Amino acid sequence: MTLVQEFEDRFGHAPIGVWAAPGRVNVIGEHTDYNDGFVLPFAIDRATSVAASVREDSTVRVSSTFSDSGEVIVSDLDELSAGDVDGWAAYPVGVLWALRQAGHQLKGMDLLIDSQVPVGAGLSSSAAIECAVAVAANELYELGLSGSELALIGQRAENEMVGAPTGVMDQSASLLGKVGHAVFLDCRSQHAELVPLPLQENGLALLVIDTRVSHSHATGGYAARRRACEIGADVMGVRALRDLSEDDLEEASGLLDDETFRRVRHVVTENARVQAAVELLHAEGPQAIAPLLDASHVSMRDDFEISCAELDLAVESSRKAGALGSRMTGGGFGGSAIALVQVEDIDRVSSAVTAAFAEAGFTEPAIFAVSPAEGAGRVS
Ligand code: GLA
Repeated sequence: MTLVQEFEDRFGHAPIGVWAAPGRVNVIGEHTDYNDGFVLPFAIDRATSVAASVREDSTVRVSSTFSDSGEVIVSDLDELSAGDVDGWAAYPVGVLWALRQAGHQLKGMDLLIDSQVPVGAGLSSSAAIECAVAVAANELYELGLSGSELALIGQRAENEMVGAPTGVMDQSASLLGKVGHAVFLDCRSQHAELVPLPLQENGLALLVIDTRVSHSHATGGYAARRRACEIGADVMGVRALRDLSEDDLEEASGLLDDETFRRVRHVVTENARVQAAVELLHAEGPQAIAPLLDASHVSMRDDFEISCAELDLAVESSRKAGALGSRMTGGGFGGSAIALVQVEDIDRVSSAVTAAFAEAGFTEPAIFAVSPAEGAGRVS
């Protein structure tokens, strides 16, 4: 059954259209977004689709192809407060709620969601849902919001309805992505610049190694890292860690406890790596950024401490088998690593990583190539 037929089946009428939004990988720039820093993600060629129609009342009905037996979850926008919706429905409903909180006029919607973005793999399946719903609502209610404005709406849904204190990177990548490009985003000004990422043209591929260790950013480690960054900025007397440079690290080491210092050092050096990566992409092309990917992983493993045994093994085994550079991507504590490889090495690297996981007694990873794709929009 097509998504449109499925929609008719569940809601008893036809949708007005279908919108889609991609997941993302982050090339480099991890845990820098909520520090007002720099990120370099791209929208991937796997998307979430939503068939949608408007309603005359304030009811939202959401259903998905991935939830139990076609259940339809019903909420009333007039009655909702932050945190009221649980589970996956918090993402789509949260977006409509956040639009209203931001002062936009909209009534309810019927929404059916289908996702090709693997869930819990660190590829922003949640942002893909938010952005697909955001572009649908933006068009159907003629709100006229830009991609950057919709990204903030998605972030608000995630922060306040889902309760995950995440930054604005994932939604920005999903909304602003372009084929063949990465999105260089200044998370303070939200200024975005498209940077060419000609992988294929250079005989390269970017492999995702999904460790199958699932993670949740609504709990524990992510929020603790964010707090440490805020404390670090506070002690250093700056608005956000974005305002520190590598020259400030010596002073920081004297003022901060060891753990907080290492958190700060990760963010400061990672911001510098993002900027270096953008320069190298312009000057030399994708192959040149490989050493920065390696350095980013070491920083996340040792300073920010958000890696895990599976991610470290994905990175080490892919590098050993010939990957040019490799790092964990996304929030950490599970999810995926990325490896920059020569096209002729894809099979060798994939088999070596799979063998290393088997040897270690880990669940078999899912390994696949991704390429920079178009951001969210209407598909039919
Ligand atoms: C998650 C969050 C993002 C970002 C990354 C880490 O993907 O949703 O906002 O903080 O982690 O870079």
